Amino acid sequence: MRVGIIGMGWVGSSVAISTLHEGLARELWLHDRRPDLADGEAMDLAQGASFYPSADVRCAEIEEMRDCDVVVIAAGKGGRPEQSRLDLLRENASIVRDIATELRGGRATIVVVTNPVDVLTHVVWRASGLPPERVIGTGTMLDTARLRQMIGRELAIDPRSVHAHVLGEHGDSEVVAWSAANVGGVSLRSAPGWASERETAIAAEVRTAAYEIIRRKGATNHAIGLVTAHLLGSLLRDERRVLTASRVHDGSVGLGGEVALSLPVVVGREGATRVLSPSLDAKERAGLERSAEVLRAAIASL
Ligand code: LAC
Repeated sequence: MRVGIIGMGWVGSSVAISTLHEGLARELWLHDRRPDLADGEAMDLAQGASFYPSADVRCAEIEEMRDCDVVVIAAGKGGRPEQSRLDLLRENASIVRDIATELRGGRATIVVVTNPVDVLTHVVWRASGLPPERVIGTGTMLDTARLRQMIGRELAIDPRSVHAHVLGEHGDSEVVAWSAANVGGVSLRSAPGWASERETAIAAEVRTAAYEIIRRKGATNHAIGLVTAHLLGSLLRDERRVLTASRVHDGSVGLGGEVALSLPVVVGREGATRVLSPSLDAKERAGLERSAEVLRAAIASL
């Protein structure tokens, strides 16, 4: 498989190492508008070749990446602690729109990581000419991973046995689907040791996690790199996992008009195809509708 990564900042380089460790790429092509950075990353990653499954790592121009199986867009400005992801919209929309236009006509499925990821998934879809299932944002996959880690911490259970979803915007309007959460098949709200009054605090901890990390180290990168590799694995290995990835949905999902946000979707070689309608209580449903409105207003502002 040939994977392209555009944008070799904190996030792109973490996506690269996670992708190599997962053995997902036989060829890994890197691009950055700073050629020396891309060159240095390719050299650095290639010199670790003894420690991951065989892969050729090299730099490439964006138009060459039309012939990749999947291209990850991680290019753009990162946020400061006091900024929301939507504050990055205008500048990053221009960057990803240009990239998507250069990729147009290629065979690559596009994975969007750059923030605000939902709106930029919408922007890339419009510019790419691809069907909606083949322009996939990491969406709330990272928020879902954070939620599972925090619930696992509360209950001293492996997060991989926690099934709980964050839906909607990867951002301040995201929604935790507490009512459907379960631990090993047991409803979370009846699991021994769970205190429902913890839900508000944990939802806030998930929602503000990135800001807390950025305030300390200047960016987030490791977890989003692992999330992106997980998404690539489901795509490239046709694993058909159900992931809270972001894609453009039409009115059929009952959230008003066209919008890009995270719902549970089945991800396989054809992309993010089947959408599973989440079971939500009235408060969660209202929150998801609000999130859709926030994102529709954001794309309309461009
Ligand atoms: C975060 C970035 C990827 O939530 O938005 O860490």
